[in-house]
Amino acid sequence: MKIFDNKIYGERDGSFCFDGQNLTELAETYGTPLYIFSERELKKNVREIDEQFRTLWGKVSIHYAAKCESTVAILQTIRKAGSNLEVNSGGELFKGLYSGFKGNQIVFNGVSKSEDEIEMAIINNIKSINVDSLYELKRVLRLAERLKERANICLRIVPEVSTGVVKGNETGTHESKFGITLDEVETAVCLAMENKSLIRLRGYHFHIGTQTYDLRSFTEAFRIMLQTAVAIYKSTGFGPELLNIGGGLPVPHYIDPTASQYMPRNIYAMLKSELTIERIAKELCQEMEEEQVRVWAGSEHAALFHDTELVLEPGRKISASAGVLLSRIENEKKRNELDESWLMIDAGFNTLMEVKTYFWYYHMVCANKINELHIKPFKVAGPCCDSGDVYFDIDYHKSLPDYRVFPESTEPGDLIAMLNVGAYGTPNMSNYNGRTMAGVLLIRENGEVVTIKSAQKYGDLVANEIKI
Ligand SMILES: Cc1ncc(COP(=O)(O)O)c(C=O)c1O
Repeated sequence: MKIFDNKIYGERDGSFCFDGQNLTELAETYGTPLYIFSERELKKNVREIDEQFRTLWGKVSIHYAAKCESTVAILQTIRKAGSNLEVNSGGELFKGLYSGFKGNQIVFNGVSKSEDEIEMAIINNIKSINVDSLYELKRVLRLAERLKERANICLRIVPEVSTGVVKGNETGTHESKFGITLDEVETAVCLAMENKSLIRLRGYHFHIGTQTYDLRSFTEAFRIMLQTAVAIYKSTGFGPELLNIGGGLPVPHYIDPTASQYMPRNIYAMLKSELTIERIAKELCQEMEEEQVRVWAGSEHAALFHDTELVLEPGRKISASAGVLLSRIENEKKRNELDESWLMIDAGFNTLMEVKTYFWYYHMVCANKINELHIKPFKVAGPCCDSGDVYFDIDYHKSLPDYRVFPESTEPGDLIAMLNVGAYGTPNMSNYNGRTMAGVLLIRENGEVVTIKSAQKYGDLVANEIKI
């Protein structure tokens, strides 16, 4: 896929444009580093996922994963596009409610929910607390009793499915910290069923990891969930009202093809992912069809999922392509020993953390010279005082391409635009090295550009501190 195949990108007067806005001009007006989001793209992404699944399965609900990008205006936009919400903390629950989501539109995941967070979820009568362990189930039960309320829950199960890439991105095996292993599910269901006045057990949940690029991982995990549901129905009589398949819908990155020569094949394929929502929807929805279930579960259980609601928690697929990050080149140097040219930009892991934690790839272009041929290899680094603050794999495990290609003439003062940064970008910003956090703009559907989060000033660095 080429960049300009995506109509959200364009060119005007030699400058790269995002959703019709000239990025060179935005950098002049607002400064850098600067995040820019598109309302149109956010809404389009929600609609696309919803439509692909809804045409194949009657009851579908999308719960956008707030951890990806939870600036209030963005949550509002996603809500107006018809999505519900997935949260991972009391803070995200607070932000969700503040942005206008109702309790019954919210599901709550997390391995370490506090009593306060669980109480907040129960009081707001949220759609589902996705219970992560037997201990947590007992805790929810105790708190529901104390509050004299009924808690809506699902059980987060461990399907034992690996997505075959970066360990830190895998969440569906017992080696990860998440969920209830299959041998404990029945005990949890029985406990919930014995306490129906306090617990409304609604179904099951899994999430196997982010950027799941291989369809087989989704199918395998979903089959295990369905088989578990049938087995538990047989032994306890509990049939799920909803099945939640988590997030992980992958985003295709415009990774430079030359990198495929030296990067591990699975990592390159994961970043480039060509798996479409259409294929995932088709594959998973047919798994629940009566004819399909009859084959392996027998005719008496064929209709078990007939009225089941299918819940999804996509994050990346909704917000990634809706965001770009603009950064200015502040310095350059030659490493004659290696015959390398380096560019130092003003956005490092304090602005875009995923590069450091997950060696995530973001495609880069020279925004103010977009018409010049991007052919010269450069190494790109951020401003923080760590050797690891670079946009390549410093340990040479080849989790990232070594070089980025820009025009021959690229130099300090030029602008770098990073694409697909709308997920896990702004929520991970920090004040490391005394750096202020970048501002965030939203391009409204009518073309208006509004600030939705102000860039920090130096005063913000000491705002919560107390002099002695
Ligand atoms: C429980 C859960 N649901 C949904 C998501 C969103 O995943 P993604 O952004 O890959 O769609 C995550 C993120 O890892 C998650 O932990």
